[in-house]
Amino acid sequence: MFTVTTSSPEETRKIGEALGRLLAPGDVVGLIGDLGAGKTVFAQGVALGIGAKGRVTSPTFTLIHEHMGRIPLYHVDVYRLRTLDDVESIGIEDYLYGDGAVVLEWADQVLSILPEDRLDIVIERPDRDGDDNVREISISPHGERYQHMLEELKAIACRRD
Ligand SMILES: Nc1ncnc2c1ncn2[C@@H]1O[C@H](COP(=O)(O)OP(=O)(O)O)[C@@H](O)[C@H]1O
Ligand SMILES: [Mg+2]
Repeated sequence: MFTVTTSSPEETRKIGEALGRLLAPGDVVGLIGDLGAGKTVFAQGVALGIGAKGRVTSPTFTLIHEHMGRIPLYHVDVYRLRTLDDVESIGIEDYLYGDGAVVLEWADQVLSILPEDRLDIVIERPDRDGDDNVREISISPHGERYQHMLEELKAIACRRD
């Protein structure tokens, strides 16, 4: 696991952007964190990194947004889906094993249907000195591909500091 601390939405977006540059079709990124943690902000960065043009908004009501860049990015939000049947009813498998990368908000609600190999990203607000803009982003790779991806991300993160 690798943890980065950010102190603004822009910084969180930058990490997402660095990740977006590394993603290939078939990759799956699970975002985990409370409402307002910064999952959508992170996904905005991923879309930038993939080279998608256009605004990236929360798919809370629409469930899936597709953004086209270097490769397709499927931005999924399962917050409003109550059961695994609901989740499966949106045809999520077609996206998970499709032609693009998937970034999925509230991944912890649907872990059983996600591929074992994936990158999990937990975003937390540490209640530190009441600074509302601090976030701890913990990245856990599952599987060899994502271990390599994390090593590359770390190298990028270190170059930035
Ligand atoms: N370091 C930070 N990283 C990400 N978002 C931050 C940060 N600091 C403040 N914010 C704010 O927190 C909110 C995160 O919202 P959003 O990304 O929609 O959360 P989620 O998708 O997890 O519900 C935004 O209003 C954003 O401006
Ligand atoms: Mg969101």
